[in-house]
Amino acid sequence: MLTVVDHPLIRTALTRLRDTRTIPREFRVLVHEVSLLMAFEVTRDLQVRAARVQTPLAPSRGWTLKRDVVPVLRAGLGMLPGFQAVLPDATVAVIGLKRDETTLATHTYLTKIPDDLSGTDVILLDPMLATGGSASTAIGLLRARHAKKVRVASIVAAPPGVSRVLDAHPGTRIFTAALDARLNKNGFIVPGLGDAGDRVFGV
Ligand code: PRP
Repeated sequence: MLTVVDHPLIRTALTRLRDTRTIPREFRVLVHEVSLLMAFEVTRDLQVRAARVQTPLAPSRGWTLKRDVVPVLRAGLGMLPGFQAVLPDATVAVIGLKRDETTLATHTYLTKIPDDLSGTDVILLDPMLATGGSASTAIGLLRARHAKKVRVASIVAAPPGVSRVLDAHPGTRIFTAALDARLNKNGFIVPGLGDAGDRVFGV
């Protein structure tokens, strides 16, 4: 299922992210802002467990969360602080992926994921969902660790990427700030915002 998270603050920040004149220092701040704003929607139906809490006056009902946050390197790192701001106790797993610029095939160069994700809400962070190869690979790695519910938080997505992820991994929930028109022949989202990793890190 695809959810386009539409909010005036996200729309205006995204406009500045798209702007080719936005330098990495500003780009990182904007990715943080959008991530923080999106996090509210992405986490809306996280599982909670009943818990008891003692207020200064009396015992009360409460809830606790269980969840992991998985950034996909490199660009997903830019989204991590925004999600950690609302999920400060989340375990952070890391998946390093690189898309081959010619074949667009995904190469996995790093995985640091808990062995057992059963029963855990997993949020996959990657600002770009282009062909969907990276997200599909990452979700496959998470499912191999028994993750059942995976949410993908992206900033810009293209229709082929959304279809590929949902075909490969039905039941995945995809959140994006924008669903753009198409991919160009190099597999870049158009109009998109360019190469998010390069714009976050400056190289
Ligand atoms: C980019 C982007 C996504 C991926 C999207 O990463 O950050 O991870 O490509 O493309 P896809 O949906 O077609 O797989 P890239 O491989 O350039 O690595 P980087 O984040 O290190 O720049």
